[in-house]
Order: sequence, then structure tokens, then C-alpha cells
Amino acid sequence: MTPDVARPIPPTLDVHLSGTELATALERDARAGLLASPKQLPPVYFYDDRGSRLFDEITRLPEYYPTRSERWILDAHAKDMALLSGADTLIELGAGTCEKSRVLLDAMQAVGLLSRYVPLDVSDTVLWEAATTLAEEYPGLAVHAVVGDFHRHLDQLPPGGRRLIAFLGGTIGNLGPAQRRRFLVDLDCTMDAEDRFLVGTDLVKDRDRLVRAYDDDAGVTAEFNKNVLSVLNRELGADFDPDRFDHVAVWNEEAQRIEMWLRSNAEQSIRVEGLDLDLVFGEGEAMLTEISTKFTPEGLAAELAECGFVVDAMWPSPGDDFLMTLCHPYC
Ligand code: SAH
Ligand code: AVI
Repeated sequence: MTPDVARPIPPTLDVHLSGTELATALERDARAGLLASPKQLPPVYFYDDRGSRLFDEITRLPEYYPTRSERWILDAHAKDMALLSGADTLIELGAGTCEKSRVLLDAMQAVGLLSRYVPLDVSDTVLWEAATTLAEEYPGLAVHAVVGDFHRHLDQLPPGGRRLIAFLGGTIGNLGPAQRRRFLVDLDCTMDAEDRFLVGTDLVKDRDRLVRAYDDDAGVTAEFNKNVLSVLNRELGADFDPDRFDHVAVWNEEAQRIEMWLRSNAEQSIRVEGLDLDLVFGEGEAMLTEISTKFTPEGLAAELAECGFVVDAMWPSPGDDFLMTLCHPYC
């Protein structure tokens, strides 16, 4: 007789965002952003294969504390999160390499509930690699990967079971206030009363530490920032020379956020063939490439309440660097 051991289940893939749709969205966003004042680009375009790998490198930099702080909270409290949520399905938005998900998966498995993992990301290659590895590492776990945009495809998340929807890493801070509100309201509307939302947020702290986390000595964040120019060159036939731009990270006190900019170090003309667009960057002119909002526990709780969520628990990391919050829809 064969022993009753769980076997790896081949992962499945849903594609809600095809390469063509992503290309169309890039054309639309790049045209609008490059013609805006100041020029700007949405951060989602950082994450081609190279950008995803550079982000992975960032998470291991000595200056970049958020990943380690969130990991500390998960190591300390994942079991509480699993028990409080009672979830059998882990959905992860912007999952990337799914590195930290293992801690949650292990905790859900330990309390005997785990059956399904649904990572969603725009970066299809990294997502599929991670999904394949996880399916092998967790025999019996149904891994259902979703290529999608968390601004547009929340209503396509697979239903069924009791779902814990995780948004880790502080990625919610990369959304501006209006976009964040819309995201939270949309998410709230797609959730059942039994579902839980687990969100990781970076907290307001000493300005110098914040800036250093986004302007590391090894220059990895600068490479990550400039990578978006290579994406525009490859996808839209632009002729940006990344060496003619400087990486800038600043703390915006009023908006309580780090901003990443690319500042032109000379007056220069850029041709974007795919958009039939000619641009001029003045010397010192900067283009906004990312915001990374920092929160206070009180501010976050108020924002969640305004968007229809009730907070179940909040877990800070040592020194209040980072915060994880579990909440559910107010029905
Ligand atoms: N959750 C991981 C990765 C964070 S990096 C962590 O905590 O370390 C942000 C991730 O979100 C990247 O993998 C990127 O591809 C993905 N992402 C960015 N914008 C997205 C969008 N609009 N929709 C879906 N995924 C997105
Ligand atoms: C993905 N996100 C939460 C990161 C952040 O800290 O805002 C992206 C990043 N940008 C530069 N370094 C890391």
C-alpha cells in the first residue's frame, strides 16, 4: 500500500493582464506622465524582471530596514494572525518573490487550516517561478497564481473558503491618498464578512534613516530607479541615457512620504518613438518615479475606518519601525 502522503499539486495560472494590455497601459501612463508637470511615472513599471531582482537585492541592503522589520513581526505573530483570521486561503497582493509568504503559510499549516495560496502580481516571470517553487515546497497546497493589477483586478480574485488577503512590504504606501482610498474601498467591497485583510505599513521615523533606506551606499536603489528608463527604452523605443539622470530620494514632510525622483544632469532632448513624442528635460529638471508614504498607527486606523474596515489587531516591530494590521470589513 502507498503511504498517505500529500503530493505536490501543479500550480495554476490566471492571466488577467496580458503582455498586450500591460503594453497599452504603459503607453497611456507614459504619455500622460511625461506630458505632466512635473513629469512622473507610476511605480508599477519598475518591476520588469531586472527591476524585480533589483528590488529583491534592496530587501537585503543594510539601510533598507522595512523587509527585516516586517519579517520580525511575521516571525513573532504569524500564528496569532493565522488563528485570528481562521483562514484556509492566503491571497497575497503584489507578492513578488513570495519570500515572506512562507512564514504565513507555515503558520496557517501549523494551525491546520492551510489549503490554498493565491499570489497576485504584474511581474509574470517572477510570479510563476515563485509559484512553482512554493507548490513543490508545500505538498498538498493548491497554488493559484494570478497575473493582474491590484488597482483593476480585485474583483477577479478567486472566491471560496475563508480568505486572508495580505498586502505586505509597505506597498500600500506607494499609492497616493486618493488611489489608496479607492483601493481600500474596492477591496472592502470584494471581501466577504469572514475574510480578513492583513496590511504591512512603514511608520514615520527619523528623516535621515528614511532617506538612507532609499539612497543606499551600494547604489542599488539608484539602479532600481533608473531601471524604469530602460523599461521605457525597450518597450517604447525611447532613447533615455540613464547616466544622464541622477537618483534623488527626499523626505516630503508635509505629505509624510519619501519621494524618488530622476533628475536630469544636463539639458537634453528625448525621443519616445513608440509615442511619437519629443521631450525636453531642462538641466536639474526632475521626474517623480515613486512615493513611499509612511504612516502612524492612529492615522492608518482612521484611514481604514473611513474605508469600511474594523481593526482586529496591530503588531509593531521593535522600535516602532513597521506595523502590521489585521482588519475586516464592517458589514
Ligand atoms: N510583497 C513583496 C514585494 C514588494 S515589491 C515584499 O513585501 O517584499 C512590490 C511588488 O508589487 C512587486 O512584485 C511588483 O511587481 C508588484 N506590483 C507593483 N504594482 C502592482 C500593481 N499595480 N498590481 C500588481 N502588482 C504590483
Ligand atoms: C515595494 N515598496 C514598498 C518599496 C518601498 O519601500 O516603497 C519600493 C522601494 N523603492 C525603493 N526602495 C524600495
